[in-house]
Amino acid sequence: MTDPMAETILQRLGGEEAVRRWVNLFYDAVSQDAVLAPLFPEDLTDSRDKQFAFFVQYFGGPALYSERYGNPFLRYLHRHVKIGRRERDAWMLRLMETLRQVISDEALATEIERTVGPLADHMINHHPERKDALYFN
Ligand code: HEM
Repeated sequence: MTDPMAETILQRLGGEEAVRRWVNLFYDAVSQDAVLAPLFPEDLTDSRDKQFAFFVQYFGGPALYSERYGNPFLRYLHRHVKIGRRERDAWMLRLMETLRQVISDEALATEIERTVGPLADHMINHHPERKDALYFN
C-alpha cells in the first residue's frame, strides 16, 4: 500500500523549479545532440513547456499537462517522430545526464530512470528489423 504521507518524486526532486531547470538543460542538450536535434522543431519553447507540464504531473504534482493540453496520449503524440532503439537511447542518455546536473541524490536518479525507461521503450515506433510489420514507420 502506498503511504499517503510519503513524499512524491516531484517533492524529492526539489519541486517545480527543479523540474524547470532539468527540462531546460535537457532541451539545451537535445539541441546539441546529433541524433536528437534533427527530430525536434528549431524553436523548442513549446517543447520545453509541454515536457515541464508533463513531468510535474507524472511525478506526482498538479495535472498541468492535462489542464493545458488535454490527455497525454504519449505514443499517439509521438506518431510523427521516427523513434527506434537508437533515438530512444539517445533521449534517455540526455535525460539522465541533465537530471544528474540538477540533483545529487543517486538513489532518486536510479528510481527515476527505472520509472521513465520503460515509458521511453514504449515510445519506440520504428522497427527496421521487422520487415513484415505493416504498421510501423
Ligand atoms: C518517457 C519517454 C518520453 C516522454 C515522457 C516524452 C514526452 C513528450 C511530450 C510531453 C511531448 C509533447 C507532446 C505534445 O503535447 O505535443 C513530446 C514531444 C516530442 N518528443 Fe517525447 N517523450 C518521450 C520519449 C521520446 C523519445 C524517446 C523521443 C525520441 C527522440 C522523443 C521525441 C519527441 C519529439 C521529437 C517530440 C515533438 C517535439 C515537441 O513537440 O516537443 N520523445 N514528448
